[in-house]
Amino acid sequence: MKQWISNSAAETEKIAREFASALRPGDVIAYRGGLGAGKTAFTRGLAHGLGWTGEVTSPTFALVHEYPSPVPLYHFDMYRIHTLDDLYMTGFFDYLDGDGILAIEWSENIEGALPGESITVTLQPDGDERRIITAEGGGRF
Ligand SMILES: Nc1ncnc2c1ncn2[C@@H]1O[C@H](COP(=O)(O)OP(=O)(O)O)[C@@H](O)[C@H]1O
Ligand SMILES: [Mg+2]
Repeated sequence: MKQWISNSAAETEKIAREFASALRPGDVIAYRGGLGAGKTAFTRGLAHGLGWTGEVTSPTFALVHEYPSPVPLYHFDMYRIHTLDDLYMTGFFDYLDGDGILAIEWSENIEGALPGESITVTLQPDGDERRIITAEGGGRF
């Protein structure tokens, strides 16, 4: 397990940029943490750490955003995904077969479909801007 303390959104992005350097093609990142915890902010840092230079916004409506960095990043929002059929529709299983990195908000909703080797990243609010960020799993944390 690895843990960081963040005191701002900018710090969370910086932590995620660092975290990105430990990632490998095919990794799956399963976020834990409620609305406003900083999952999208973390993913922004992650994408930039992987070399993406464009914008990173919440995939709430699109369900998945693709960031074609040298190792591509697929950013999912599973908030509205409740059944296996819903999940198939997002293309999740096709992305899983590929060599990109998946970062999944509201991963609680697809618990049973997550690979055993997933890396769980928990963002736990601890005051207005303070977040306790924990990474576990994937054989590295
Ligand atoms: N330490 C922090 N890390 C991340 N976001 C923070 C932090 N402190 C405050 N915030 C704010 O909390 C919000 C997090 O939003 P977002 O990343 O979209 O969360 P989520 O995707 O988990 O719903 C942003 O408005 C951000 O500015
Ligand atoms: Mg979000």
